[in-house]
Amino acid sequence: MQDERLMSAQLVAGDEAEVSVRPQRLDDYIGQQRVKENLGIFISASRERGSSMDHVLLSGPPGLGKTTLATIIANEMGKTIRKTSGPAIERPGDLAAILSNLEAGEVLFIDEIHRLNRSVEEIMYPAMEDFTIDIIIGKGPAARTLCLDLPPFTLIGATTRPGLLSSPLRDRFGINQRLDFYEEEDLTQIIIRSASILGLKVEKTGAQEIARRSRGTPRVANRLLRRVSDYALVKGDGSISCDIASLALGKLEIDQYGLDNVDRMILQAIIAKFGGGPVGLETLAAAVSEENDTITDVYEPYLLKLGFIQKTPRGRIATEHAYRHLGYKVPGSRLKAPGLFE
Ligand SMILES: Nc1ncnc2c1ncn2[C@@H]1O[C@H](COP(=O)(O)OP(=O)(O)OP(=O)(O)O)[C@@H](O)[C@H]1O
Ligand SMILES: [Mg+2]
Repeated sequence: MQDERLMSAQLVAGDEAEVSVRPQRLDDYIGQQRVKENLGIFISASRERGSSMDHVLLSGPPGLGKTTLATIIANEMGKTIRKTSGPAIERPGDLAAILSNLEAGEVLFIDEIHRLNRSVEEIMYPAMEDFTIDIIIGKGPAARTLCLDLPPFTLIGATTRPGLLSSPLRDRFGINQRLDFYEEEDLTQIIIRSASILGLKVEKTGAQEIARRSRGTPRVANRLLRRVSDYALVKGDGSISCDIASLALGKLEIDQYGLDNVDRMILQAIIAKFGGGPVGLETLAAAVSEENDTITDVYEPYLLKLGFIQKTPRGRIATEHAYRHLGYKVPGSRLKAPGLFE
């Protein structure tokens, strides 16, 4: 099980140290240049206007820095951030209470905003648009609607599944930024920065080796850094060289693309159990004993990015790269599949 958790882009136990290496200002945030530039401009503009910033939607796979960016935005605006999540707000009254307790200019962060239920969402629309909420007081014929003014605030929504957001909600975000997997160079910088904060010794080539196998995800990079550092301490002098990193990652069964056992099980299942696909999500999830959402949110995005799988209207298929990577002979029908390696 240890290996399975090791590469998860989702937050797992042991990741608490993550908070200590989390960048606090925009200047410390490495990579995602386009998103960084855009947000920098919006932050400066609203500071100059002296008004609250437009609502922001941040989307992208887990562990890429959505929560980090939300905190940075609040820090740069010099405002407090209130954090909650879609599933935590069960009833419209819960949201009304949160909203009416906000102070002017504060940031409300709602994680997993695609999981807000519809009745809660409806409270959100006028709140985002006009900074008002309608509260219903009483029941039955005596019920009255009370319109309450709210102080201006900035809503920052984070989601791993922007496609599941209803369009009225999506349309009410003035700023919509999508995070993508990180380049290897950016991850190298992130690892070097984290190592220096944590007091770990890492050579540039060691950091590069970890970066290469971190599946484009800072959370994974930080976690691998700690594991490799443990290994370096026990097997060497504590310093992380390329060789030590490579050895440690090999022991942890992380291959040169950053794939772990679960990724390989998924590819293996598509190839060996389902003849290369197409296979539907539920069938695939059952075959590897994972939740549907874990497959779509955590594993699939990176396998798609690598060009190891493709989504078709009838399900997932394994590409020729997947066959080669796992050492299978490529069937004629799989040749010429487009992917990263062309
Ligand atoms: N651009 C970055 N530069 C340096 N470190 C980063 C960067 N982005 C993320 N990190 C590190 O990765 C960790 C995970 O990021 P974060 O918690 O913001 O991800 P997330 O997108 O909110 O994930 P989830 O979808 O699981 O909520 C952070 O604690 C931080 O240490
Ligand atoms: Mg988060």
